[in-house]
Amino acid sequence: MGNRVTELFKIKYPIIQAGMLWCSGWKLAAAVTNAGGLGVIGSGSMYPDVLREHIQKCKKATNNGIFAVNVPMLYPDIDKHMDIIVSEGVKVVITSAGNPKTWTSKLKENGIIVLHVIANAKFAKKAEEAGVDAIVAEGFEAGGHNGREETTTLCLIPIIKKTVSIPVIAAGGIATGKAMLAAMALGAEGVQIGS
Ligand SMILES: Cc1cc2nc3c(=O)[nH]c(=O)nc-3n(C[C@H](O)[C@H](O)[C@H](O)COP(=O)(O)O)c2cc1C
Repeated sequence: MGNRVTELFKIKYPIIQAGMLWCSGWKLAAAVTNAGGLGVIGSGSMYPDVLREHIQKCKKATNNGIFAVNVPMLYPDIDKHMDIIVSEGVKVVITSAGNPKTWTSKLKENGIIVLHVIANAKFAKKAEEAGVDAIVAEGFEAGGHNGREETTTLCLIPIIKKTVSIPVIAAGGIATGKAMLAAMALGAEGVQIGS
């Protein structure tokens, strides 16, 4: 199936593997990319030199070189991470846990596709204004850190759809084709799947 998300990443299926610190390195990311989704390296648990190694291995292991790096903006060495991402020619970055204005323009100036993770309409709007290409709308079911509002995925998607015009990718509690279909019936154009 084709839609704005498959076109954005040039992928077969609108399925994004979640960035998960400690859990998603180059092997998982490359396997997902090679299976037709978008693989993601979770950089939040990596020292800069470790991140560089994972990116280089993922580039070699993927058939098209298209994968993302997830960057939680709480990370103390974020400047070094972003420099590595740019210099290694990573094509997609997913930012989370911070202000989308901080890094979006620098990444976009370097030709990188940027997604930002949000859990409410206010931050979805901010991310769209910052110039991101798509939003990951993460409901309270999601593994990892969650938004304070505790809005569940199927309640969040229609709210975010009304708020922004860029593509919305749903995350949180999606683990089957039926759940993916439900998210897409509510307006999501892709899903991000983690735990
Ligand atoms: C172990 C674990 C680590 C995670 N680490 C991150 C992270 O570093 N950055 C981030 O944006 N989200 C992180 N997440 C959230 C995922 O990216 C994703 O949105 C979530 O897992 C989707 O919901 P699901 O777990 O129900 O599939 C993490 C989730 C898990 C389970």
